[in-house]
Amino acid sequence: MARLAAAHPSKGPLTRRGIAVNPEAMNTCLASFIRTPAEMDRVARRLAKVLPKGTRIGLCGELGAGKTTFVKGFASTYGISRDTVTSPTFTIINEYSGPTPIVHADLYRIATDEELARTGLFDADPGSGFLLIEWPDRFKSLANYLDLVLVFSMKKNGRVIEARGKKEILRRIAESKILER
Ligand SMILES: Nc1ncnc2c1ncn2[C@@H]1O[C@H](COP(=O)(O)OP(=O)(O)O)[C@@H](O)[C@H]1O
Ligand SMILES: [Mg+2]
Repeated sequence: MARLAAAHPSKGPLTRRGIAVNPEAMNTCLASFIRTPAEMDRVARRLAKVLPKGTRIGLCGELGAGKTTFVKGFASTYGISRDTVTSPTFTIINEYSGPTPIVHADLYRIATDEELARTGLFDADPGSGFLLIEWPDRFKSLANYLDLVLVFSMKKNGRVIEARGKKEILRRIAESKILER
């Protein structure tokens, strides 16, 4: 993982698009440059170990930015095989059961707040597991629902992940040096 030299987190994609999930209301940004899918997997596994159970994570970024790749790595930490994790683009919510269950949603095809409510996402209690939501930035109503927002962006030689979130969660990530200020 290379330290990000030029990234300017406060001008990240969320801010530019004027998006619902309000990163400005969250704490300082951490970031990292991720060169390969294998490195994305490793970062996801490390984050999965330091984040408290019950964390609700939003995954923002364009198609192909690495959101589902991240979920595969994350879930593998808890014994869920990478093949079990598939993009919930059509199913909207996938649940991978286990001692640490993972709820994986993809809101790309959800158009309205009513449809969002009908998905049952707000009834999903991550409890002893985790909730990972792709495309949360499509909905204002999710602004205060997430504990951590990871913004993925595509670069010529890899991907950048930026993280914003609750203070305590970012502190854990910073202390583990998984992403850096
Ligand atoms: N550094 C990287 N990190 C993550 N994925 C990468 C990287 N470089 C190339 N890729 C490729 O980009 C694609 C990301 O797809 P996916 O994870 O499904 O994206 P999303 O869910 O954001 O649409 C995969 O084919 C993956 O192999
Ligand atoms: Mg995806």
